[in-house]
Amino acid sequence: MSTVLYITAHPNETEASYSLAVGKQFLEAYRAANPNDEIVHLDLFKMDIPRIDADVFSAWEKLGAGTAFDQLTSEEQAKVARLGELVNQFVEADKYVFVNPTWNFSYPPVMKAYIDSICVAGKTFKYTDKGPVGLLGNKKALHIQASGSVLSPGSAYADFEIGHRHLDVIMKFIGVPSFEAIFVEGMAAASDQARQIKENAIQQAWNIAKTF
Ligand SMILES: Cc1cc2nc3c(=O)[nH]c(=O)nc-3n(C[C@H](O)[C@H](O)[C@H](O)COP(=O)(O)O)c2cc1C
Repeated sequence: MSTVLYITAHPNETEASYSLAVGKQFLEAYRAANPNDEIVHLDLFKMDIPRIDADVFSAWEKLGAGTAFDQLTSEEQAKVARLGELVNQFVEADKYVFVNPTWNFSYPPVMKAYIDSICVAGKTFKYTDKGPVGLLGNKKALHIQASGSVLSPGSAYADFEIGHRHLDVIMKFIGVPSFEAIFVEGMAAASDQARQIKENAIQQAWNIAKTF
């Protein structure tokens, strides 16, 4: 049995969202193919994801200098403990599905906060003589991203897109060997084709769900 983290970075739970609509279809197909797997939905806009702020930095500094955890301020304890929970949950899972709209060529800021919480030395990567090495070599990931324009690799505006490319870098950094993507894209640029674009993305989601 595998554990899947279904990670959504979208403020609205509406069918009008292309990324969520495709994500939902993926989940249904995945569930049908893997009825015993556990799927955990991380709705990033609704979760407590501490930012790496002054409390977190001071906590790290104190812990590094040998201060006991219970000697930290209550804010420091709460934030460091929560960040620890998030990275442990990520490490314990087997598969990840990231779902987001594109805002100004990237994902919404909660996704960055979440990424910051899961990139932890000794948990998801380690430092070696030859540089950092990822520790999650037995996982797989899928990214479902919607954008009004066509931004996927190979397209005219691909160089502008940084959300998927950043996630790709992070998956490589933490060692996740399989990272697939579904781009639901171009609905604004060609609104008359929006329905077909969505249908094509859903078909892709169903196909990937069979083997993910
Ligand atoms: C704040 C904001 C910024 C956006 N920036 C971009 C952008 O940089 N490039 C793009 O192609 N579409 C952009 N869009 C359009 C969305 O990516 C598009 O509506 C997409 O379908 C959103 O995903 P959703 O349908 O899951 O909500 C933006 C939309 C919003 C609300």
